[in-house]
Amino acid sequence: MTVHELLSARVAEALAAAGAPDAPPVVQPSSKPEFGDYQANGVMGAAKALKTNPRELAAKVVAALQLDGIADKVEIAGPGFINITLSSGFLADTVARQQADVRLGCGARQPAKVVIDYSSPNLAKEMHVGHLRSTIIGDALARVLTFRGDQVIRQNHVGDWGTQFGMLTAFLVETEQAGNDELALDDLEGFYRAAKQRFDEDAAFADLARDYVVKLQGGDVRVRALWQRFLEVSLAHCEAVYDRLNVQLTRDDVMGESAYNDDLPRVVADLKAKGLVTEDQGAQVVYLEEFRSKEGEAQAYIVQKQDGGYLYSTSDLAALRHRFGTLHANRLLYVVDARQGLHFQQVFVLGRKAGYIDDSVATEHVAFGTMMGEDGKPFKTRSGGTVKLVELLDEAERRAFDLVSEKNPDLPEAQRRTIARAVGIGAVKYADLSKHRTSDYIFDWNTMLSFEGNTAPYLQYAYTRMASIFRAAGEFDRHARLLPVEPAEHALALQLAQFPDLLAQVSGETCPHFLCGYLYQLATRFSRFYEACPVLKAEGEVRASRLALCAAAANTLRTGLGLLGIEVLDAM
Ligand code: ARG
Repeated sequence: MTVHELLSARVAEALAAAGAPDAPPVVQPSSKPEFGDYQANGVMGAAKALKTNPRELAAKVVAALQLDGIADKVEIAGPGFINITLSSGFLADTVARQQADVRLGCGARQPAKVVIDYSSPNLAKEMHVGHLRSTIIGDALARVLTFRGDQVIRQNHVGDWGTQFGMLTAFLVETEQAGNDELALDDLEGFYRAAKQRFDEDAAFADLARDYVVKLQGGDVRVRALWQRFLEVSLAHCEAVYDRLNVQLTRDDVMGESAYNDDLPRVVADLKAKGLVTEDQGAQVVYLEEFRSKEGEAQAYIVQKQDGGYLYSTSDLAALRHRFGTLHANRLLYVVDARQGLHFQQVFVLGRKAGYIDDSVATEHVAFGTMMGEDGKPFKTRSGGTVKLVELLDEAERRAFDLVSEKNPDLPEAQRRTIARAVGIGAVKYADLSKHRTSDYIFDWNTMLSFEGNTAPYLQYAYTRMASIFRAAGEFDRHARLLPVEPAEHALALQLAQFPDLLAQVSGETCPHFLCGYLYQLATRFSRFYEACPVLKAEGEVRASRLALCAAAANTLRTGLGLLGIEVLDAM
């Protein structure tokens, strides 16, 4: 049981003993140290329901509250808040138990089977900043859920299908004939632009491209092979980015739109058989009662175009059916731009109506906002183009290298490069992950690379400080008995004890920024502890306890940053 679960259970029992058996205990970490470590705020609601005086009810609850060995102090405050201060023995035991567990006490009670759809770029072009958020938010969630024991199935739902690929494969044939295809594919962005230009300017080429789409979808061997070659190059580009971002997606996780090709006619036929489809100007359309425009008109969900072609929306229905029906997941996460909100609501509602999923599965659109430039408009290059992710990461490392070289000019260059990689990439990822995912945020190099505040460099630096303590300490017992008696020790141990509850929250609400906030607070509490309580100069069991506390803090910080896919260093 986590600390929060334990306190909630005990307060609930006390409420029952005081005559309010169904009242929710409402336990939460206190907002200020004066209010103890936790507050139980359920008494007010219970008193209202029972039409009794809340202070009197609080007194009864406190009298019945069994917290022996858990809390040192229980106080009633204000209209009936119950403030709980945990005992140092309880904190010591809790932290020790967590540190002895590979999951740091974070194992989920009921592990789920979770599909996480993330990154999912369109392969027609190179990955650009628009893919950054899905890639790193999704990866952090996949790591957190895996760490808690969920069975995570990553699905990289890449855009590898549709009309664009007719154009690209047709253009590949042309460039091949001209003998410079290898070169051309090095720059996918340029390749796409050139193909598009040919398509727009030359009607014969456009016809050829359309013919290729038909051949591609019909399974023509030659066109499929060309398409495959193109995908190979494009996926290799993505993998290079994943590698640099320390993102755990592999080839095995790729399950693109094309994978559902054979299923699409069946999905449409099935929807028709179930009477869900209307024909509208030759297209096959679903109108759902649930979705109406402001004017009251039903919103269309097109599953087949007039020309017989299928759409993004069709493959998402096939994917939904696959994830539930074949993969048997009971939680489906889609880490996709907030602007696709309506699309996913439609997919989920329609999927339920069509029987592709049932009520045993949770479907969640893990929406995120837009990354903005310093001008407050969507992030672009100076000339207004899209920023390639590779270039953004190059710049991050370059800037971090300059910073590190300034701070530590005497380190060998190779080491400065290693540090720059961890700091630069960590900064970009952390800046994104630390914002509430649904808000738009301004991408700002100076803030994200700062060694102060809620940033990756600050946390990475805090870790190196811990590492340097261990170097200076020499051999010591990481599992020595903890004696968190000083206020700063108490605060740090409390923070550590809250890690399992925090990860449960990150998982439940699919919000990595809670983890960032937690780690920042952990680092802050650590530095307060380190200022207030001498470690290496202490003696005997106090020294042993403080070193073990440092070890627990370092372990939790490293684990937490690892769950965000951010590296730590022993020195920087
Ligand atoms: N390829 C799409 C895009 O770039 C994202 C796909 C997200 N996943 C999904 N199942 N629709 O916008």
